[in-house]
Amino acid sequence: MRERPSLGFVGAGKVGSTLARLWFRAGYRIAAVYSRDEAKASALAALTGAAAVVSVEAVIEAADLTLLTVPDDVIAPLAASIRTAALSGKSVIHTSGARNAETLLPLAERGAMIGSLHPAYPFADVETALAGLPGATFAVEAEPPLRAWLEELARVLDGRVLVIPAGGKAIYHSAMVIVSNYTVTLYAIAERLLTEIGAPREAADGALSVLLRGTTENLRVQGIPAALTGPLTRADVGTIHAHLRALHRLDPQVADLYRELARLSLPMLAARGVPTDSIRQVLEQEAQDASDDTRYSEDENRRGGDPHADGL
Ligand SMILES: NC(=O)c1ccc[n+]([C@@H]2O[C@H](COP(=O)([O-])OP(=O)(O)OC[C@H]3O[C@@H](n4cnc5c(N)ncnc54)[C@H](OP(=O)(O)O)[C@@H]3O)[C@@H](O)[C@H]2O)c1
Repeated sequence: MRERPSLGFVGAGKVGSTLARLWFRAGYRIAAVYSRDEAKASALAALTGAAAVVSVEAVIEAADLTLLTVPDDVIAPLAASIRTAALSGKSVIHTSGARNAETLLPLAERGAMIGSLHPAYPFADVETALAGLPGATFAVEAEPPLRAWLEELARVLDGRVLVIPAGGKAIYHSAMVIVSNYTVTLYAIAERLLTEIGAPREAADGALSVLLRGTTENLRVQGIPAALTGPLTRADVGTIHAHLRALHRLDPQVADLYRELARLSLPMLAARGVPTDSIRQVLEQEAQDASDDTRYSEDENRRGGDPHADGL
């Protein structure tokens, strides 16, 4: 195998365009680009010294290593539709985080080496990704000798390599989605809570973004479990109780989420030597109360609707 493969891209979207441009800058030869939208293929080809071609087969023909940078659901049907009969000496990979390399099995059966290379980075747009991607981790799924090519492609972008065992992609990608996508969901929930009590959106974002930045930094410097702060780590059950009461009144679904996240945090507390019995108790009690809405409301009426009225 050549030390450095020539590269071909199918799909001139966010990931394909970013990777092609970065690897071109790093000295790789980009042999060919195909996209359904010819203008997109031509634009990327012009930026990377590649040929804009009119079929997937033409990309495979021109390149040692072809990247299918298309939506996840397109990968399998696209691979199955490739008409090139003999693929020995060719490598074809995709960049999906969720799909296994096996999605490309029909190509392996015709002699191609197959794999996947997932850049663990949120590609919101090409220009931001060009600046932000270097230093990211690349999840690599391939057998040698293709693996060495993929590891080198990650390294030239100052990337780290995480080798994924066969069949491990779905779990790997769930981890990425939880930390990246659902952080955005949690942020949106927190922003809504602040606007519910009258905070202007700008003020809400100001408060939350600095908090989030500090948390990310704590995670980077101190790691788990030390980065966890807040009422759980102080075993402040009165505060947790007040949060759950207030959230239940505003949106029971958010109260359920809060409770579940608190439960999932308990192992971190135990690892730090924080006593968890009283926390468990308040979480179970609140869960029971929430499942009995009538009792919950009566309780609230008795307290005059003030979550702090019980002095907790
Ligand atoms: N976005 C992320 O944050 C991210 C991160 C890591 C990995 N990935 C993975 O990278 C892959 C591409 O994602 P992306 O975000 O770059 O998507 P994207 O911006 O939507 O680009 C997808 C590209 O695929 C092309 N395409 C769509 N259907 C096609 C078909 N039937 N045949 C040929 N080409 C087709 C589109 O071409 P036309 O526009 O020319 O029609 C487009 O250029 C996915 O597997 C995704 O999971 C994404």
